[in-house]
Amino acid sequence: MSSKRRLAVLTGGGDCPGLNAVIRAVVKTAINNDCEIYGIENGFNGLVTDKIKKMSLSDVSGILPRGGTILGTTNRDNPFKFMVGENDEGEIIYEDKRETVIANTKRHELDALIVIGGDGSLNIANKLSKECGVKVVGVPKTIDNDLPCTERTFGFDTAMAMATEALDRLHTTAESHHRVMALEVMGRYAGWIALHSGIAGGADCILIPEIPYRIEAVIRKIKQRQEQNKKFSIIVIAEGARPVGGELSVARIVKGSFEPVRLGGAGEKLVREIEELAGVESRCTVLGYLQRGGSPTPYDRVLSTRYGVAAVEACIRGDFNTMVALQSNRIVAIPIGKVASEPHLVPLDSDIISTARHLGLSFGD
Ligand code: F6P
Repeated sequence: MSSKRRLAVLTGGGDCPGLNAVIRAVVKTAINNDCEIYGIENGFNGLVTDKIKKMSLSDVSGILPRGGTILGTTNRDNPFKFMVGENDEGEIIYEDKRETVIANTKRHELDALIVIGGDGSLNIANKLSKECGVKVVGVPKTIDNDLPCTERTFGFDTAMAMATEALDRLHTTAESHHRVMALEVMGRYAGWIALHSGIAGGADCILIPEIPYRIEAVIRKIKQRQEQNKKFSIIVIAEGARPVGGELSVARIVKGSFEPVRLGGAGEKLVREIEELAGVESRCTVLGYLQRGGSPTPYDRVLSTRYGVAAVEACIRGDFNTMVALQSNRIVAIPIGKVASEPHLVPLDSDIISTARHLGLSFGD
């Protein structure tokens, strides 16, 4: 065996633009600093099933602009509660595979594991470090931008750009047909994508989970525009938005997932109510996975690259059980356990909210 430092990298949870850019930065920085680097396939699944392969520079050639992840990912496999089958009643059978993970880590003589993931994957990484002695460094990934202790997660900028483009396109068709057009965007329980794309795309109403809306306020805005001879309106609604006193719109429950609730349907519910109560023809577009697919923006490519380099640097310094994060536009390493704190939601007193209000945008409140 060589005496070189051995690092491994995996991507966990939903895919996100910029994953490949992080992998490329990790592989290049590791090799340029005389480390060996191993890729783990399909998130924590590969760590349990031993799908661990040495990577070279040629593996990451040309992947900077590519969406998805060359390593594969899953948001179902948790080594502490690993799905091994179903019983006769159709219930999932789980096993604790921590010993397998420890054995695989030892067999490959891995000095540290770089986990690129959202809150689910990073919480598992934290548990691996605390309960199994695996040395980890996390990289904050998610289009939702909802992770604590970092100003930006990579992937968010690309999702926001995609939603903005969709709003530009919806404007022309809404205007031609004098309709209300709602765009439902992702973001789970945070309104970052809706808020930023709504401002960038000139929406009239932005409905986010942090501000439960009143349908009367939304209709008031539509009517006000009509009185100003603006016969169409554009609404961005986050998948996690809900009316005051109302329920979240749940699309499905994914058995065995880190976090089984999948949101969806808030936009359709909204346009039906607008049609019924205001008599204005309304349509909803659900942007869905277009926000996650495809090439990362230049901003996300740079942020992903900075995170990947910083993660390897943290491994070389021995700064383990940390997550790299963006704070005051500098990349720092914070204790990974902090990921378990409250999610990063849109602060109601933030200047981005007051910017929108000064423009006359309605949050439906
Ligand atoms: O966290 C990223 C995200 O795209 C959310 O915005 C969305 O709610 C969820 O993942 C969808 O998950 P899945 O890929 O399991 O449908």
